[in-house]
Amino acid sequence: MIDIVCGGQAGDEGKGKISAYLSYTGNYEYCVRVGGPNAGHTVVQNGQSYTLKNIPSGFLNPKTKLVLGAGAYTKTQWLLEEVKKTGTQDRLIIDPYAVLITDEQTAAERGAAHFMSHIGSVGTGLGQAVKDRIERREIRFAKDEPLLKEYIQEVPELLNKCLDKGGNILLEGTQGIKLSLLHGEYPFVTSRDTTASTFLGEAGLGPKSVRDVYVVFKPYITRVGPGPLEKEITDEKELEIYHTKGHEIGSVSKRLRRVGEFENRAAARAIMINNCTKIAITHLDMFPGNDRVRKEEDFSAQAKQFLADLRALSAQVYPHPKIALVSTGPDMDDTFAI
Ligand code: IMP
Ligand code: MG
Repeated sequence: MIDIVCGGQAGDEGKGKISAYLSYTGNYEYCVRVGGPNAGHTVVQNGQSYTLKNIPSGFLNPKTKLVLGAGAYTKTQWLLEEVKKTGTQDRLIIDPYAVLITDEQTAAERGAAHFMSHIGSVGTGLGQAVKDRIERREIRFAKDEPLLKEYIQEVPELLNKCLDKGGNILLEGTQGIKLSLLHGEYPFVTSRDTTASTFLGEAGLGPKSVRDVYVVFKPYITRVGPGPLEKEITDEKELEIYHTKGHEIGSVSKRLRRVGEFENRAAARAIMINNCTKIAITHLDMFPGNDRVRKEEDFSAQAKQFLADLRALSAQVYPHPKIALVSTGPDMDDTFAI
């Protein structure tokens, strides 16, 4: 069966940590990543931190094979550096039609005021590569790169055979619903849809084998670029706590993230559109007094209230998901089931 991890806000909800936790505790043969290298997923284990732009966060489980689908975009050098850093040469698989963003595409995006100053693009060249693909211009696919030859395999066939034999797959999506090209806050969005159904299509999977859809939320929202934040926090002292304790600095862009209060409307849409069956909450330790607390009964009154409010909200939105996972610290081991 397939489990999917999606972002319920504007990216950076902690999908990396949740995917790493799931791959560690679940029994997945494959972890699949789709989307572009504009999305950095951070995984911390025993104090060692990895920022991944390409490799699925499930790499921490050595038994899991790692897959980039046809809807993945990367840059050859960035990918190879990450493969080396994570020691994953032996278990990486790339779809022949995953796209390699060229330096020309990166330069074109970085030179375009429309992308950079208006939309606040991360500047990896993803938007330009997607544009070129849609226009059916010449694209550099993974199958065209000799350095990646050993990793190329027919991904849809491989994954569907795994399902046929009763195996499990973890599908790690990128960004969050507020950044979706279809359902987000246009034009302050990324160049693709960022919801569960699209992640499946990008990997070459269909909807019938989905078991759980995890949607990840923080108790607040961050945005690295321009665009709506309903209740933006502007108090500098308060913001500093998010930027220091909360590490709210862009993992790829290095920009200080803007911060806003939790948005119920965005959360309800994220549950609905992703068909969320399980909610994961990260950064619960940003409520004072919850650092590394591991039992719900020991949470502070503020954290308990947040969970109660979210439970009340999700009870009203189909398919009425339960809060399944929370984290009270940056390490993968600070994540647990409630
Ligand atoms: P682009 O996808 O690089 O063009 O960026 C479009 C918008 O989405 C900008 O506001 C970016 O800051 C934002 N964005 C893109 N990827 C991420 C991400 O992984 N996390 C948070 N924001 C992102
Ligand atoms: Mg990120």
